[in-house]
Amino acid sequence: IGGSDMYRQQILDHYKSPRNYGEIDDPTFTHVGENPMCGDEIRMDVVLSEDEETIEHVAFRGDGCAISQASASMLTEQLQGMSIEELQAMDRDDIVDMLGVDISPMRIKCAVLAEKVAQDGAEIYFGEKEIDRTTTEEDD
Ligand code: FES
Ligand code: FES
Repeated sequence: IGGSDMYRQQILDHYKSPRNYGEIDDPTFTHVGENPMCGDEIRMDVVLSEDEETIEHVAFRGDGCAISQASASMLTEQLQGMSIEELQAMDRDDIVDMLGVDISPMRIKCAVLAEKVAQDGAEIYFGEKEIDRTTTEEDD
């Protein structure tokens, strides 16, 4: 891992003591995603506010390398209080900035795994709600 010592320390710390690791009972949505390069999986549980615009609570579990685990741990902290819109606008540069180290092209999939799981989970959740609404309207 390239980059400054401070950021390296931070990554190791999140890897050794991941924040928000575990499960949430009855989350608004949950999603599992895999890093196609290695097969490591991360699951994210997300609780949304009542109006479903803001992320209130996130937990993750799964396995993977230090980068993927630290990235997931840091992301759970960043997502707290974030809007769904802001989540969906995040890209790999935001994750690289968050990690604060150089990420080689080989490791980028590790770094963005958790972000992708959260984004895909939200997309699927809101996509299904959209379908529900359409179906209901057609039934009327
Ligand atoms: Fe190759 Fe993570 S997928 S190092
Ligand atoms: Fe599997 Fe990084 S090697 S997530």
